[in-house]
Formats: sequence, structure tokens, C-alpha cells
Amino acid sequence: MIDFAKKGFYITSPLYYTNGSPHVGHAYTTIVADVIARWHRLNGDKTFFLTGTDEYGEKILEAAVKNDKGAKIFVDELASIFRNVWDSLNISYDDFIRTTEDRHKKVVWDFVNAANKKGDIYKGEYEGSYCVDCESFKTESELVNGKCPEHNIKPELRKEESYFFRLSKYQKKLLEFYKKNPEFVSPQSKFEEIKNRVNAGLKDLSITRVNLTWGIPFPLDKSHSIYVWFDALTNYVSALGGKKGALFRAFWPADLHLVGKEINWFHSVIWPAMLFSVGIRPPKKIFAHGWWLVDGQKMSKSLGNVVDPLEVSRKYSVDALRYYLLRDAPFGDDGNFSEKKLIERINGELVADLGNLVYRALTLAEKYEGRIYGKPKAPIKEKVKSISKHMDELELTNALEEIWQLIRETNKYINETEPWKLSGKELANVLYNLLERIRIIAILISPFLPETSERIFKQLGIRQQNLKDCKFEKISGRISKGSYLFQKVEVK
Ligand code: MSP
Repeated sequence: MIDFAKKGFYITSPLYYTNGSPHVGHAYTTIVADVIARWHRLNGDKTFFLTGTDEYGEKILEAAVKNDKGAKIFVDELASIFRNVWDSLNISYDDFIRTTEDRHKKVVWDFVNAANKKGDIYKGEYEGSYCVDCESFKTESELVNGKCPEHNIKPELRKEESYFFRLSKYQKKLLEFYKKNPEFVSPQSKFEEIKNRVNAGLKDLSITRVNLTWGIPFPLDKSHSIYVWFDALTNYVSALGGKKGALFRAFWPADLHLVGKEINWFHSVIWPAMLFSVGIRPPKKIFAHGWWLVDGQKMSKSLGNVVDPLEVSRKYSVDALRYYLLRDAPFGDDGNFSEKKLIERINGELVADLGNLVYRALTLAEKYEGRIYGKPKAPIKEKVKSISKHMDELELTNALEEIWQLIRETNKYINETEPWKLSGKELANVLYNLLERIRIIAILISPFLPETSERIFKQLGIRQQNLKDCKFEKISGRISKGSYLFQKVEVK
């Protein structure tokens, strides 16, 4: 039963730029967020999972022009592409926010006005190297051989009138906050990087642009538009209806902002400083995950080395893609996308371990006509506890590994007990243990492989269950062995 008195669990993905369709890197952030959201729902937590699109800025305007489309039409199309891809990948988002929506603009204006009241906004002039693809000015130390290391392009030199946010004013407060919240950023190494940079000093942040037609007008001076990051970050509050919204009361502070490592700075430094300025508590945690690389380089639209998640999921199944992404790179580290490894994992862990287990056990159970009952062979409580602990600590890869241990143990149990040689009470007992373990496995994999889990429940003849049902009970369903859960991929 969901306890509504408890503060809800609020998890967000970043908002994706609408300058092209989502690739596997974007799908990764979203799938990870989805798995965590589903895990919390499974645990009975009132959960809110937000995703959406970041639609303003120069880069997006450029992409629209390149595609011969008006900016609004262009972002409308892309926002719906993002939604469709997420729907196809079984992403269970509760809300999808677009920065071009009115509900968002209103809250961004509230933020500007509140920060201004606090004396945190002033007019100045900015000069610097500007990377159009990052949508941000770069310091010299960030450039490699004079180029933006992420996009491999030479930044433009720009000087222009701009409004600034007094980020430097919050240096001390941020450092104090980090000290009091030693788990604020994960992994720890990423937190250390942040602390060192903040320690070295903070520059005020340019938050507006002149001559930018595709942006939220700056409420204090209509000849300026708001620079994308100040606008985009606010989404996490605007989606809750702003500071006074009912959702805000139920869900803020956010429990987890999930971000890629290149945008950690914006979330761990600029965002809390903005929140200090407007009088809102910072989020509880930022997790900065690694990148998916192709031949050692970050998969990105600008480098043109992207893998299409829909193509992969159509070829191998949505759950195969979800499993591969979550299992192949330890959560937090970079991963190298390889179709060969994806196929190895499908044939090994999905077909030979999970698929085979369910098929073998259900074939036996379907044939058996008596009542299935018995005693648990080995306790499962500790295992479930340890998997839950991994999930709470965001050790997703370890959690999956433990679930697979359970699957392998259960396969081994079949081999050792040789139920095809048994009958009567003995057979009933082995079948009981097998089916109960499979039911519990189906619960545990449901956040990771929602479709597969649903199919197992159907074959067991029962409804979907929750984490609290991960204990041995009575067999209650009518078994109907369906087809194999996964098909072996033949390698030519
Ligand atoms: N619009 C900003 C975020 C604003 S949040 C208020 C942005 N968008 S993005 O489309 O460039 O990236 C969104 C997310 O996708 C980031 O978390 C980023 O790390 C992730 N990924 C983009 N390419 C990726 C890989 N190759 N691998 C893993 N994740 C990657 O930044």
C-alpha cells in the first residue's frame, strides 16, 4: 500500500535538446531513470518521474534553419519524436515538460524576479570563447588545442552585453552545503572535481543573450532573452507547478537528478546556487553517469557516430537493449557500445540463463497435474535485501548481477534435482521451489525488463506483484507455458 503521508520520490532525467532525434546515449539516461522510478513504485513509494525537452537556444534555431523549418514547428516535431521513442522503450514518465510551454516560462520569470529582488542579477558585458554546440562560453583551461574537447570545434570569440547571475556570491554557501551533504554528488570522484573547482573560485554567470530570437524573453529587459541553462534548469521546479504548486509540496526537494557527467557542473553548482537565491532547498542528490562511447569517442549528434535506440530495439527487443545498457557498463563509468557484446549478452544471460530457466520450469509444471506445494529450499530474504540495498545505493549493475546469480542458482537447482526423474510429493516440492523463485525473479527484474516480467507473470497465471511479495507463498496461478522469452541470435 502506498503511504501518501510519506514524501514522494522525485526523479528526473535531463531535458534533451531538440536538435535531433534521441540516440542511445540519451536513451541510456532515460532508461536508467526509468529503472529507478519503477523500482521505487515496486517498493510502494509515491513516485514522480519527470523527463522532457530543452527547446530554446541558438543551436536549436540553427538546426531548424538547416532543416528548412520554422523553429516552433521543428521543436514540436522533435518533442513528439522524443515522446514516441520513450514510449517505445517503455519509459514510464509521469510528466514530459517542454521549455517552450507557458507553465515553464512563468516559473522561469518567477526565478528571475526573485533572484533580482535578492540583488543577484546585474547588467554587464561578457567576452569569451563561445562554443555554439555547448551553448556556453568556455574558459581557456577547458579548451584542448584551442577547441571544445567535446565537440571538436573552434569556439567563436564573443563580446556582448549580458545580464549576470551572482554565482560568485554563493561560493561559501555551496562549500558549506557540500560539507553538510557529503553524498550530494555521486560518484564521489565527480564530487571531488566539483568541490575543487568551486574552491578555486566562481565567476558570475551570464544568463542572457541579446540578438537571440529563440528564447524566453528576459523579464527585466525585453531586448534580452534568457540563456538556456538558467531557463532549462528551472524545469525541475516548473514541472511541479512552481514553488506554490501542490506537486511541489508533495515532491520537492528532488530525490535524484540523473545527469551525464558533462552537465554535472550545471546541476551541482549552478542549480543549487539558483535555488539558494530564490529561497528553495537544493535537491538531495545528483548522480553523474558516464558516457556511451563508440570507438573511444563520445556518441554525439555533432560527431555523427550515433546509434539509433529504436533500430536496436526493433532488431533485438526493447528489453534486450535495456538489459545491455544497464549491464554492460558499471553504473557511473563509461561504456563502449558494441553490437557483438549486446548479442553475447542476449545469447548468454537472456536466452541461456533467464529464458531457459523459465521455459524448462514451466514445461515441467504444465505437464504436472497434481497440486504444487512444498517448503522453501533456501531462504531468499537476504538476497532480496541485498539487491534492494544495491538499488538504494544506485549500484544498478551490481543489483542486476545479483538477480542473475539467483537465476543461475535456480537453473543449477533444476540440474541437481533432475525433476524429470521425480514424481509425487518430491516433484511437487521441486516445482514449488522453482515456480516461487521464478515469481520472485519476475518481480525483481520488472524495473529492468518490464515486458519480460509481464510475460512471466502471464505464464504463471498471476497478476504483477510488488517488492513486498518477494517471499515464498502459496502457488496460486494457472500455468500456461508460452513461447520462449528470448530468441537466440545467430551470428553469421
Ligand atoms: N539540454 C541539456 C540538459 C539540460 S537539463 C536541465 C543537455 N541536453 S543533451 O541532449 O545534450 O543531453 C542530455 C543527456 O543525454 C545528458 O545527461 C547527457 O549526458 C546524455 N547523453 C548524451 N550523449 C551521451 C552519451 N554518449 N552517453 C551517455 N549519455 C549521453 O545537455
